Amino acid sequence: MQLFEKIPNNVNLSQDKRLLRALEKWQPDYMKWWSEAGPADFQADDIYLRTAISVDAKGWAHFDYVKMPDYKWGIFLAPPEDQRKIGFGDFFGNPVWQEVPGEFRNALRRIIVTQGDTEPASVEQQRLLCNSAPSMYDCRNLFQVNVEEGRHLWAMVYLLHAYFGRDGREEAEDLLERRSGDVDKPRILSTFNEPISDWLSFYMFTMFTDRDGKYQLLALAESSFDPLSRTTRFMLTEEAHHMFVGETGIGRIVKRACELMKKDPNEDARKDGGLDLDTIQKYVNFWYSSSLDLFGGEISTNAADYFASGLKGREHEDKWEDHVALTGSYRLPVMEDGKLTERTIPMRNAMNEVLRDSYIDDNQRGVDRWNRMIAEAGVNYTITLPSRRFNRTMGIYSGHAFDPRGNPISREEFERRKGEWLPSAADREYVNNLMQPVLERGKMANWIAAPERGIKGQPLDFEYIRRV
Ligand SMILES: [Fe+2]
Ligand SMILES: [Fe+2]
Repeated sequence: MQLFEKIPNNVNLSQDKRLLRALEKWQPDYMKWWSEAGPADFQADDIYLRTAISVDAKGWAHFDYVKMPDYKWGIFLAPPEDQRKIGFGDFFGNPVWQEVPGEFRNALRRIIVTQGDTEPASVEQQRLLCNSAPSMYDCRNLFQVNVEEGRHLWAMVYLLHAYFGRDGREEAEDLLERRSGDVDKPRILSTFNEPISDWLSFYMFTMFTDRDGKYQLLALAESSFDPLSRTTRFMLTEEAHHMFVGETGIGRIVKRACELMKKDPNEDARKDGGLDLDTIQKYVNFWYSSSLDLFGGEISTNAADYFASGLKGREHEDKWEDHVALTGSYRLPVMEDGKLTERTIPMRNAMNEVLRDSYIDDNQRGVDRWNRMIAEAGVNYTITLPSRRFNRTMGIYSGHAFDPRGNPISREEFERRKGEWLPSAADREYVNNLMQPVLERGKMANWIAAPERGIKGQPLDFEYIRRV
């Protein structure tokens, strides 16, 4: 790996002049996008960031001060696995592909573009948050997430340029043209067009939406197209930090809420300017249900085709016994004549649902950790994940109304009660009013507890951002 190269990489870029030229041509457009759509401030300041410099477990991350526009956005693929074989689907056991098979070219391009589109989208959604950070530590974490999402865009653009010729180059340009929330050129998936204007939403996004990213990447890490598998395997190492930011961010707000409740005779966390657990629960309901939509339809021929052709597997395919999945089935609750009933569908058509199951379990583990903190604080409250049927806008449940426990209800009842379950305009206003920047070293906004430790062994009052 050469850090002094213009585009740091472990793909031998200097040996491929055509590809190098294509990426060097794309780079200024990327920088233009970053300056227009990246963080709205702090671009000239020194930020204590980690940069990927290699792919081996010990040496991949380098921590130092860097100005964000000087961040080294590199191209890193996990090392090739010797003699890797296709792990699932119709071609199970064949050697993996180093080139794109003609018949799957369009499907693969679509998968890569859809994944790639989410990366810059999240940076755009979070663009204004730096103006209201609850601490220097948090502001630095936001920037870390942002530069790494930028690198994930590079990862997908590398694949488009290296393997998809002219169409790939055009897609790479379009990835810089679309903008989150734009009326004419929105991002592809609706969750990535939701504005993130407050930090509670930011932590919810990194907890729930980045975790959808983790599961999509885990499914793509199984892909028969080896360069895609290797790219996503390295992206997963960065993704873990994004979910750490989300889970611990919400955990710290929960902890602070409990502290404030204990101080008030009526256990009202808002009384002293905190965020209360009911509001946190409503934001969980909103972001979790929105993130569930990202997994696609419950009964999906697309998912079946992707599995059959070996493009997209299940997460950790090796934990399953049957890698062909032609005979298995899945029991799915469906609505029929206004009632919930179960239907049996072929396993391959249920691949989105199988991935969603793993995602839900993973979220529940995080929620359990928050609930342990609440119990330890001596507060009687349980945060719950709503049913997967609640508040969906995609898939088989989207045409029906459900309460958070998943019971079918009438549209009227949903409309009447949605203020109990989802953030109301007043809740959003309350949350937004709390968002006042706190940037003195070591200080925290009143509504969030301090983290347990600093970054990379640094103290909590370390100067994570040096303003110049
Ligand atoms: Fe990402
Ligand atoms: Fe992420």
